[in-house]
Amino acid sequence: MTQDELKQSVAREAIKYIVDDEVIGVGSGSTANFFVDELGKVRNRIAGAVASSEKTAERLKRHGIRLFDLNSVNELPVYIDGADEVTEHLAMIKGGGGALTREKIVATVAKKFVCIADESKLVPVLGKFPLPVEVIPMARAYVARQMVKLGGQPKLRERFATDNGNIVLDVWGLSILNPVELETAVNNIAGVVTNGLFARRGADLLLLGTKTGVRTIARK
Ligand code: A5P
Repeated sequence: MTQDELKQSVAREAIKYIVDDEVIGVGSGSTANFFVDELGKVRNRIAGAVASSEKTAERLKRHGIRLFDLNSVNELPVYIDGADEVTEHLAMIKGGGGALTREKIVATVAKKFVCIADESKLVPVLGKFPLPVEVIPMARAYVARQMVKLGGQPKLRERFATDNGNIVLDVWGLSILNPVELETAVNNIAGVVTNGLFARRGADLLLLGTKTGVRTIARK
C-alpha cells in the first residue's frame, strides 16, 4: 500500500464519525484533502463545513459543500484533520502546511477531534518534525531568539505567509518530552500567534492507516 492509499483509507474511515445534519470542522493538508473528497460523496448528509484554511475552503466549495463561518455556528460536534506527528497519547505537531492557527481554533471549538494519519506519523516523542510557530512579522527576530533559549533552531519559512498574513518559524532540534508545558511556554512569547503543538487540546481519537488496516486509538 502506498502512503496515499493509507491516507485514503483513514479518510474513508473518518466518514463514520460525521454527524448527520450538523456542521463538520475540516482540517488542512493532503490527508484532510482525501477526507474532503470522501465528504463530497455524502454531502447531502451534512449541513455543511467550517474550513481551517482557504485551500480547504476552496476544495469544499468545489465539492458543493456549504461553507460556514465559525462565528455563525454554536457547536461543532466533530473536527477531522491530519497531523505531522502524533504520539500514542494523541498529542500532535501540526502546521506543516501553515494552517496551524485556524486549525487550533476550530479544533478547540469542536467537541471531538478525530485525527487521521498514516502510520509514518506515529512517533514515541514529538520534535523530529520541526515545530511550526506562527509569528507577527515584527517579532520575528525576538521570537527566534526565545526559541533558541528553549533549545531549538528556528528557520524562517521562506516565501510563505499564513492565511492570517503572518510568518512561520520552523523550529528544529526540539525533543519534546512535555508537550503541554512547551505549548504553553511558546504561546507566552510576545509576538507568537500560535504554535503547532496540539497537546492541551490533543485529539480524542486517532485513525491510523497501517498496511494491515486502520488502527483506532482512543484517548486514555
Ligand atoms: C496543515 O497546516 C497541517 O497541520 C496538516 O494537518 C499537517 O501538516 C498534515 O498534513 P498532511 O496530511 O499533508 O501530512
